Amino acid sequence: MKTYKIALLSGDGIGPEIATEAKKVLDVIQAQDKAQFECTEALFGGNAYLQTGKSFPRETIEACDAADAIIKGPIGLSKEESDKIPVDEQPERGALLPMRRRYDTFANYRPVYLPKSLAHFSPLKTEVVGDGIDLLMIRELVGGLYFGHKERGIDEQGQRFARETLEYDEGQISRILHVAFGEATKRKGILHNVHKSNVLLSSVLWNEVLEEVATEYPDIEVKHIIVDAAATALCLDPRQFDVMVMENMMGDILSDLGGGILGSLGLMPSACVGPEKAYYEPSHGSAPDIAGRGIANPYAMIGSVAMMLETSFGMVGEARAIWSALAGVFAAGFATADLGGEGATVLDTASFGDKVVERLVG
Ligand code: IPM
Ligand code: MG
Repeated sequence: MKTYKIALLSGDGIGPEIATEAKKVLDVIQAQDKAQFECTEALFGGNAYLQTGKSFPRETIEACDAADAIIKGPIGLSKEESDKIPVDEQPERGALLPMRRRYDTFANYRPVYLPKSLAHFSPLKTEVVGDGIDLLMIRELVGGLYFGHKERGIDEQGQRFARETLEYDEGQISRILHVAFGEATKRKGILHNVHKSNVLLSSVLWNEVLEEVATEYPDIEVKHIIVDAAATALCLDPRQFDVMVMENMMGDILSDLGGGILGSLGLMPSACVGPEKAYYEPSHGSAPDIAGRGIANPYAMIGSVAMMLETSFGMVGEARAIWSALAGVFAAGFATADLGGEGATVLDTASFGDKVVERLVG
């Protein structure tokens, strides 16, 4: 049996509650003798700063460096708490972006997935959702505005200004496009390229590189769509999409829209994959307003475990079992507080996790 080292960073807000449920799922898989998981828990985010003075403390860096994969909960404190932290140590700038940079996790997989049994959670009309939604957004995660040169100052007129740059080189573009073409090959053979080449020079370069990379994938049909039009199309007819690829900031925004058409960001797990290491996280925030009340939806955190098992450890069967257990709980007439759903019985965080576990145990 294989042993995998996992760094478990439960994060802030609802993070620890949903991390507990993710851990339950790992424990079941371990109890079934499918693999051995050595989990090291470590501080990351706002609470890490309050306890150690660093939002990505040295011990956490060491645990992550030593791990085969990282599971990360959401980070971020309430505005009042956050304001007490120096800007550079605030969890997003002080922990999350450094994590992405350190492990060069350029490929962000964000499945927008709503199987038939969950279709009633979508705010879209029944005829638009049909038998569900199943698309994969691929977001470039370590380039563009997030990582470009930034500066603040006072200009000649005495006005405060801020400047940040959206930069991509061809290597950064081609590696994410190869990931996207690869996924399109595994799925339906259609790739939607999301861009803004009518305005942004970075998109002009992106599309040029795409034409070159596309010659290596003659069987893939590429469709181009401008980012604002893509936002509308995702609401009106999401089923036209299968794999979508885009730069960092566009992916940040459209993937939240993805959560919107599912009915909740609580249904959005994700994988952030680099050349040597990957980390897995729900795409949603830490929801400090509901933290500690046991009502958070652990779906995205548990889904992130499934993505880790498949992507980092090649445990495809176990990942499928988790997906079907997650969908099975909803199909049985349950919901979590974020989803509502007419006539559904609302489960608290731990009960949802227990029901997933029941199904996995079979
Ligand atoms: C996400 C989040 C992050 C991002 C924040 C927390 C910095 O919104 O993963 O989508 O903007 O990338
Ligand atoms: Mg986001």
